[in-house]
Amino acid sequence: MADISTDVLVIGTGPAGSATAALLASYGVEVMVINRYRWLSNTPRAHITNQRTMEVLRDLGHEVEAEAMMHAAPQHLMGENVFCESLAGEELGRMKSWGTSPLSKAEHLMSSPCEMNDLPQTFMEPILFKTACSRGAQARMSTEYVSHEQDGDGVTTTCHDRLTGKTFTVRSKYLVGADGGNSMVAEHLGLPFEGKMGVGGSMNILFKADLSRYVAHRPSVLYWVMQPGADVGGIGMGLVRMVRPWNEWLIVWGYDINQPAPVVDAAMATQVARQLVGDPELEIDLISANTWTVNNCFATHMQKGRVFIMGDAAHRHPPSNGLGSNTSIQDGYNLAWKLAAVVKGQATPKLLDSYSTERAPIARQIVTRANQSIAEFGPIFEALGMDGGVDHDKIQRSMAARCDATPAAEAQREALRKAIELKKYEFDCHGVEMNQRYTSGAVVTDGQQPPTPNAEMELHYQPTTYPGARLPHVWLFDRNGAKHSTLDLTGKGQFTLITGIGGEPWIAAAETLSQSLNLPIRIVKIGPRCAIEDHGGDWARAREIRDAGCLLVRPDQHVAWRADTLTADPQADLTRVLHAILGH
Ligand code: FDA
Repeated sequence: MADISTDVLVIGTGPAGSATAALLASYGVEVMVINRYRWLSNTPRAHITNQRTMEVLRDLGHEVEAEAMMHAAPQHLMGENVFCESLAGEELGRMKSWGTSPLSKAEHLMSSPCEMNDLPQTFMEPILFKTACSRGAQARMSTEYVSHEQDGDGVTTTCHDRLTGKTFTVRSKYLVGADGGNSMVAEHLGLPFEGKMGVGGSMNILFKADLSRYVAHRPSVLYWVMQPGADVGGIGMGLVRMVRPWNEWLIVWGYDINQPAPVVDAAMATQVARQLVGDPELEIDLISANTWTVNNCFATHMQKGRVFIMGDAAHRHPPSNGLGSNTSIQDGYNLAWKLAAVVKGQATPKLLDSYSTERAPIARQIVTRANQSIAEFGPIFEALGMDGGVDHDKIQRSMAARCDATPAAEAQREALRKAIELKKYEFDCHGVEMNQRYTSGAVVTDGQQPPTPNAEMELHYQPTTYPGARLPHVWLFDRNGAKHSTLDLTGKGQFTLITGIGGEPWIAAAETLSQSLNLPIRIVKIGPRCAIEDHGGDWARAREIRDAGCLLVRPDQHVAWRADTLTADPQADLTRVLHAILGH
């Protein structure tokens, strides 16, 4: 007999674990979440927070989204991504990033009701964790996962209470390993991984110093510094990252992974900070310093029986593109509604198989993208003639050479501009953030073909209602004139059926099924004099179905199925589709 029992036990209170606990608690599932430490994130690792993640927070509640925005540095302070020899030194080039160039900004505005922002992990984690606790999640700090055993009915997990030194067991129906890049849960499951850990060495130096005079006129999150040693390890170049504008900073600087990790003491931290800022007199208030390794590794399967892994436990990669915590939270959004549906008896455990089928390809994609982004610093070094190591005199000579009135210098200037432009695949990669589409048993296409991909799917979001895609956002209006995103009309742990005038048989079918399956289905009817109106015609342009067609939208706002118009037997079709998705 276990000491404690719960429906779902989550290991880890990072972005993945806290988000999953918050979502499960919001859906009314008994959940317990544990963390081996007594603190939440004590360094501001993740910060770039993309629109899809903000949509998850918005679905948790407008107050959750508002709190995040209150603490975040807003998007307009994020975008003057600078490449320079030091903050005080010469600038090599700049690119508008994170949706701040006019075209990209329009794309962001059209894609989502939410704004990208810069929210350090030290703020994000408490918001998610507090949401979990305030909605009834059981949370235990200083509690370590030790091992687990699963059988046909559940999982028994052994934990170690670091306060009392005692060991206890938790019996749960399901176990989620959100225990980070050194996941013991993943190791104990023996899940298959591809790639390599420890491909580069990096150090973080977190400090306070007012650097306004170097940055306030070109506000950005990231200042990339080309210095001797900038091509060794690290994440592409030396980085001075804004944590709080403009007096708290994180330097990321590489070291040779084939050598022992350096001891980053106050003297070394000050020396690196002075070198990258370019101010030999700079005084810093050092908060912390540590070393870490760049990884290039992902799980090709994220589940074994009743146990799942998510977040860094499944995808281990450098911070390039800012995808880590974002993807971790989005893993939780994918799994939580499925666990809730199974725990409540609305779906069979077969539904849970779709988690790994849908999220493992995303893990592969983002790990590959992040590592490629490091490699794509190469052309900048090459354009400056730095392909064979970086020394100070050579940098100076190359930078001077680019100012000459010669064809060679003109070619060099062009090469540098192009090399910097290529970095949009790291700093303005909206498609990677927003185009996630699923193919699995929890999506029914009925043989429809996906839309022809845009030329640059990594860079640009392509809205579609093709089953498996995220529901496109447009603004709609209720009868009082209040505006709502299509996303606001879905989610909150429920399926939604969207139809229009002439689609009444879909509504009748959904209501009958809702009763028989004990599955709440929200109905949204859009059209003139309906509860929701499409005054601007934006929905009519986005929906890719006709008025009497329907979209069935999953609780995670991905389209489960669509019908172009009324079919011969809507009741039979909707029954077939829901039974397939729920694994009946
Ligand atoms: P995370 O590691 O955050 O949490 C793991 C949790 O499990 C912790 O609570 C830990 O205590 C707990 N735990 C571990 N073992 C345990 C055990 N045995 N028992 C109990 N508890 C245990 N991402 C992003 O999206 N945007 C960005 O801009 C950046 N930037 C960035 C910069 C830098 C410098 C770094 C190093 C990283 C980033 N990231 C990022 C990545 C991001 O920090 C990372 O992807 C997330 O923290 C992953 O979240 P998880 O919840 O998966 O793991």
